[in-house]
Amino acid sequence: MDVTDILYTPLDLPPFPKFSTDELRQWIQECHERQDVHNNLDASKHLGSLYPWNVTYAKQDGKWLNNFENLFPALSKFFHEAYGFEDSDLDTVCILPLRQDFTGTGFWHSDQDPLGLRMYLENENVEGASLLIKPLDKKYKTRDELGILPRFGPSEKVQKDVVYEVKSPTGASSHFLNNMSCVHAVKSNDVNLRRIAVVIGIKRQYNTDNCINELILRSAEKFKDSVIFWTAPK
Ligand SMILES: [Fe+2]
Repeated sequence: MDVTDILYTPLDLPPFPKFSTDELRQWIQECHERQDVHNNLDASKHLGSLYPWNVTYAKQDGKWLNNFENLFPALSKFFHEAYGFEDSDLDTVCILPLRQDFTGTGFWHSDQDPLGLRMYLENENVEGASLLIKPLDKKYKTRDELGILPRFGPSEKVQKDVVYEVKSPTGASSHFLNNMSCVHAVKSNDVNLRRIAVVIGIKRQYNTDNCINELILRSAEKFKDSVIFWTAPK
């Protein structure tokens, strides 16, 4: 097994620090509307109801925003220490609260960040999956090799009739999501679900170093019942 075989695995990180989800929601509410991150197309403002998240940045271009690092010091530290990085290694921390009016399946896509480090800070679970995954036709090793997938139309690269369902634990958890060899879509089975996801973006030089391969492989071994593997099209 190597990392390219794995589409999804929970990650074996240290325990999450204590933080207040109410205070976090308050911060998101205060910041979401007025954040206008330079050069960043904030999809939640452009795609309307198609987009499941209210994107809010805690860190962008290596800079903490809206006092996040002082209001949530334990979380800010955890975002890098949990993976063995320094604060200065972190380029982006994108906080993604699920829109309260969103229900159903979001659009299929893969994200830009090659390392695919994800967390849920809060996940109110209901019956069914919170994330759906479809494998691609082959295992792509880089985003350049994969190229740009159509965001709303079908792609011949996506395997037909194969959909994996991810049932994440309630509360805070972390996982790896392969952004090269599968596409994913958010799933919500009810309105007003409390779910806050986080995308951790590491500075560019690490994206080619496979610096977290050991963590991913160790985690996949530990959580083998929850791992989703890529398999060749039938
Ligand atoms: Fe995504």
